[in-house]
Amino acid sequence: MKKFAAILCVVLLAAVSLSAVAEGAFTTLVEGKLTLSISPDFPPFENTDDDGNIIGIEPDIMAIIGEKLGLEIDYLPMDFDSALLAPQTGKADAIVSGVTVREDRKSQFDFTHTYVSIHQAIVCKEDADITMDNLGEQMIGVQSGTTGAIYALDDFGEDQVISYNTYSLAFMALTNGQVDCILVDDLVGESYAATIPGLKVVATTYEQEDFAFGVSKGNTALVDAINAVLDELIEDGTVTEIILKHSAN
Ligand code: ARG
Repeated sequence: MKKFAAILCVVLLAAVSLSAVAEGAFTTLVEGKLTLSISPDFPPFENTDDDGNIIGIEPDIMAIIGEKLGLEIDYLPMDFDSALLAPQTGKADAIVSGVTVREDRKSQFDFTHTYVSIHQAIVCKEDADITMDNLGEQMIGVQSGTTGAIYALDDFGEDQVISYNTYSLAFMALTNGQVDCILVDDLVGESYAATIPGLKVVATTYEQEDFAFGVSKGNTALVDAINAVLDELIEDGTVTEIILKHSAN
């Protein structure tokens, strides 16, 4: 009996210290909460519904991560440029905004593992004849600070590019004829084209981009904790399921 009690004690202790490692090793800005910057103009990854709730692929993934880590999720909605800055200036634990992992962003964030890949796409009016070959002759709309903006500015210069604070504004400009096309992540372009009549999506030759969550630099324990859950969700098919669910509409 004594021996049994001793073993039980050891097992219990091990369980306690394991959960201490799982939950206590990282710190967040606000205890018990994950404070996340987000630019919710990027369906199906993040958007707001009619009631102003933040919805999409990434909020669904983050909800599970929060639950598994015992953390409440607190979103700070803002434009993409500001959302990129928030984890770097101590205002957020991480950015959740369909962030492409780039070499030059690795000095700004500690990235989690990537969970999806996209390419840039051109979105234009159905009757327009715009491809990669004549993209440089168009007025291109982009969201400021994005990879789309970086490529368009690098390749065609300021005179051909209009940067908007949100992709919603960029798509309004396309509808109004202020720009000829939008350069945007393909799944997002398809999502806008599915809700705005008369648009089409054209593939580009820009390199593949991989999305991750950008955690504030130095908080490697938080990156590890998020990765542990994220890996599981990738392996068991949950991430694919969530992506399919949001790509249907
Ligand atoms: N993937 C692109 C990038 O990292 C665009 C992200 C824009 N995100 C957003 N939520 N508006 O630059």
